[in-house]
Amino acid sequence: MHIAVVGAGSLGTLLGGLLAREHDVTLVGREPHVGTVEREGLDVVGAESVHVDPAADTDPPDSADLALVAVKSYDTADAAAALTDCSLDACLSVQNGMGNESTLAAELDCPVLAGTCTYGARLADPGRVEFTGRGEVVLGAREGGPSTLADDVGAAFDAAGVETTVATDMPTRLWEKLAVNAAINATTALARVENGALTAGPGRELAADAARETARVAREQGVNLSNERAISLARRVSRDTAANRSSMLQDVEAGRRTEIDAINGYVVEHGEGTVPVNETLTRLLRLWEAGDEGDEQS
Ligand code: PAF
Repeated sequence: MHIAVVGAGSLGTLLGGLLAREHDVTLVGREPHVGTVEREGLDVVGAESVHVDPAADTDPPDSADLALVAVKSYDTADAAAALTDCSLDACLSVQNGMGNESTLAAELDCPVLAGTCTYGARLADPGRVEFTGRGEVVLGAREGGPSTLADDVGAAFDAAGVETTVATDMPTRLWEKLAVNAAINATTALARVENGALTAGPGRELAADAARETARVAREQGVNLSNERAISLARRVSRDTAANRSSMLQDVEAGRRTEIDAINGYVVEHGEGTVPVNETLTRLLRLWEAGDEGDEQS
């Protein structure tokens, strides 16, 4: 299978590296990373270590069997636009946040699958990604129900040793992942701690509060997600990726924009004034993003 991995950040590079053990992979991302991968190959180090030689470029290839979209949620529209010139059989989003699949489906002619991923990764240097936490990919039809396409993609991922579950209840799975990200990402980014810090002490309760609020909003949207399940999933991911610095913590440390709008901000948008923990986390992250500009406006 030819897989174009669009978004060669930490997660995209890790998945691309693991998939390249079995498939033809083209990593689509930014310089200097993709140039280094094209010239010298890619090293995955950590939970599994492998050297692979995928193709790598700043633009998508002319065609691929699958576009695996791993860009930041605020870049989804640009990724969709860049993919319109690529002949694709299918597209799969494994991004954080809500709404990515509909943005892709609105632009692309091929079927778009929904996905989530709890693997932990850190882009150490150009051409080198650290595999910091084992997780899984969950994928399926974005509206739910069975899908032979999802079965085929799941089988291709499994063949490359990427732990994958094909799910028939993706709308619920996306809300579950949102609860996990709402619990972990902003809290770890603001407190500058690894995911494991949320398994005990004050972080444990703060993360549980954010997950509980997200589950309540999910139920209000007609999704069957109990508080207990949301909290236990967030705790399991914190434990399984204990040594991982969440993607939002990595963004903050690198001085980059974060995905706060598509995660806690999404919960706030749909929670209509009833989600104080998510609201405070969102405000604090937006304050950090505004930086000195925030001072000037006040
Ligand atoms: O965004 C992240 O960092 C990841 O989705 C997760 C699963 C929380 C692991 O750090």
